[in-house]
Formats: sequence, C-alpha cells, structure tokens
Amino acid sequence: MSEFRWGILGTGSIAKAFANDLSFAEGHLVAAVGSRSIETAQRFSDQFGGIPFGSYQSLVEQDLDGVYVATPHPFHCTNTLLALENGKPVLCEKPFSVNSKESAAMIAKAKEKNLLLVEAMWSRFLPHYRLVRELIQQGALGEIKFLYADHGQYLPAERHPRLHLPELAGGALLDLGIYPISLSYLIFGKPTKTTARASFTELGVDESTSMIFEYDKNRQANLHTTLSIKTPCTATIIGTKATLEIHGSFYTPTSMSLKHANGEVINYPKEYLGHGLREQAVEFAKLVREGKKESELMTLSDSQSIMETMDEIRKQIGLAYPFEN
Ligand SMILES: NC(=O)c1ccc[n+]([C@@H]2O[C@H](COP(=O)([O-])OP(=O)(O)OC[C@H]3O[C@@H](n4cnc5c(N)ncnc54)[C@H](OP(=O)(O)O)[C@@H]3O)[C@@H](O)[C@H]2O)c1
Repeated sequence: MSEFRWGILGTGSIAKAFANDLSFAEGHLVAAVGSRSIETAQRFSDQFGGIPFGSYQSLVEQDLDGVYVATPHPFHCTNTLLALENGKPVLCEKPFSVNSKESAAMIAKAKEKNLLLVEAMWSRFLPHYRLVRELIQQGALGEIKFLYADHGQYLPAERHPRLHLPELAGGALLDLGIYPISLSYLIFGKPTKTTARASFTELGVDESTSMIFEYDKNRQANLHTTLSIKTPCTATIIGTKATLEIHGSFYTPTSMSLKHANGEVINYPKEYLGHGLREQAVEFAKLVREGKKESELMTLSDSQSIMETMDEIRKQIGLAYPFEN
C-alpha cells in the first residue's frame, strides 16, 4: 500500500508532536507543510520532512491524502473550509472550532464536498478509550450513574500566551475542558441540563471552570478544568456494579482499574508506547481509504453537540471573544 500523504497546516507545538508521532506509524508520510512564512515551513521541513510552503493556500493545492489543521482555535473553521474547498479530507485539532456556528459550517462544507472530516480529539482513538467503550457495552459497570473528571494544568501566560489571549480564544474551557467534556459525551451523550461557574484571569479568559452535566435517570457528570494549577487529571466512572478509574492523565495513554462492588479489582496496566497522537492518524487514513465521511469513534454529531454545549457554558460564565462580536 502506498504511503498516506499528510499535509500539515500550521507549524506550532502540536503540529511538531503530531509529525514526530507519525514517524512511529508505518505508512504515513509528512508530504508537505504549510506555514504563514516560508522560513518557518522550511525549519519544520528540515526536522520532519515534507515540501515547505509559505502559505496555507499553496499547501492545500498540493497532491495530498489528508490535511491536518493545527492552528489556534479561531482559525480552525477558516483553515478547514480552505482545505475542504480544495478537495482535501481534514483532521482538525480540538476544540473543533470556537463555537457551534463555525462547526456547523465546517460539517456542511464536508458534506457538500463529500469529504471526510474528523475532530482530532486524539483520546477517542486510544486503546484504553476503546476498552472503556467495550466495558460499558458489555455492562461491566452496570448502570452508570456518575462521572467525575478534571483537567488542570499550570500554564502561565509568560510561557503559554495563546492560552491567555482572548483574540486567540484562550481560556481553560476550550483548550483543556474539552477533554472531560468529550469523555462525558462518550459515556452519557448530550446533557439535558448544563450548569457552569468560572473564575477569570486579568486578561478576561476563564482560568477555572466547574461544570455539572445532568442526564435522565438522575445521572450526572461533575467536570472541572483550570489553567492555573496541575490537577490529578483522573476520570472516575461510577456504575451500579463497578467503578472504573482512569488514572492520570485520563486523556493520554494510561492505566485503569475496574473496582467491583464485591471488592474484586481488575487492573489494566498501561502498555502503550509513545505519545498517542498517531492513533487518530491511523484511523483517519483507514477511513479515507474506505471512502468514509466520518469516524464512528468521534462522530460529527458529537463534535457539533459538544460545541453547542460549550456555547451554553460560555453563555453562563460570560466568556466572550472579541472576534465573535
Ligand atoms: N491534541 C493535543 O494534545 C493538543 C495539544 C496542544 C494543542 N492542541 C490544539 O492545537 C491547536 C494549536 O495549538 P498549539 O499549542 O500547537 O499552538 P501554537 O504552538 O501556538 O501553534 C499554532 C500555529 O498555528 C499557526 N498560526 C496561524 N495563525 C496564527 C496566529 N494568528 N497566531 C499564532 N499562531 C498562528 C502558526 O503556524 P505558522 O506560523 O506555521 O503559520 C503557529 O505555529 C489548538 O487549537 C490547540 O487546542 C492540541
């Protein structure tokens, strides 16, 4: 089988991590890289390969099997539309967009062009998330009543300006909170009611956000995110038969324990080697070759619904971005 030819759009930290992880996946090639400057594209190319291009437009015009969009959130929509318009399937970084209006436009364009579009919520493609799905489907936890999950990192403004700037859609919610939110969707689907409270940084983005998602049958998810301190980053899924603990950091390759009500414990050690970003690439290439237009592991309806829920949270906590006015 010929190599899957990736075009990398944007050359920041996650683009580098993705390209590096691709080098551990057989049959994947960084064929081209696009940056706003040719010098930056050249530096990326020197390290990871691929023909460098000094604009995103030139990148998407190349002969590629897929484009990976790795720019800050406010550009996900524009960059994804550009690649789709030029006939390229797209793997777009999380959060899928800044708001549900943008995500709807991205999905509509993918459907219009009949092209694959997937949110790069990489955790969904990891082996332990597949196991979480299997255990739930097998009924190993019984009826699931609660989820507790947090994602907190110490990301000071001096070292992580993107996370703090309103013009780059900064804040904990969109960057980090998306992980517990995406996990809650995997387990319970769309909440019937959402309640959120937040504290803000001086620059006006959410520093910490706490969320309660409610579902039918009195089920709940309690979720938390912050960019001011490292938190355990664990997830606990509590069912009537057993509790599944996903150890920190729950959204990366990690170990798990299934604790039965009768005291029996089954441990699932971490066996995965590497970062884990390549799993989404492997799945994406498979879907392109099969002619699929979306991934069952990260559906477009989940991506859209998650953006709608984040819109609602932002409304409740008063998190607005200047470019949305
Ligand atoms: N999956 C994960 O684990 C993970 C981890 C971190 C981030 N992310 C997501 O990936 C996206 C990028 O994050 P990152 O940490 O890689 O960001 P970053 O290091 O700041 O890089 C973003 C890149 O986007 C391009 N860009 C285009 N317009 C820009 C602008 N106005 N300002 C700054 N950069 C601009 C730049 O590439 P050029 O100069 O080459 O054009 C820049 O290098 C975010 O949406 C984030 O949520 C995902």
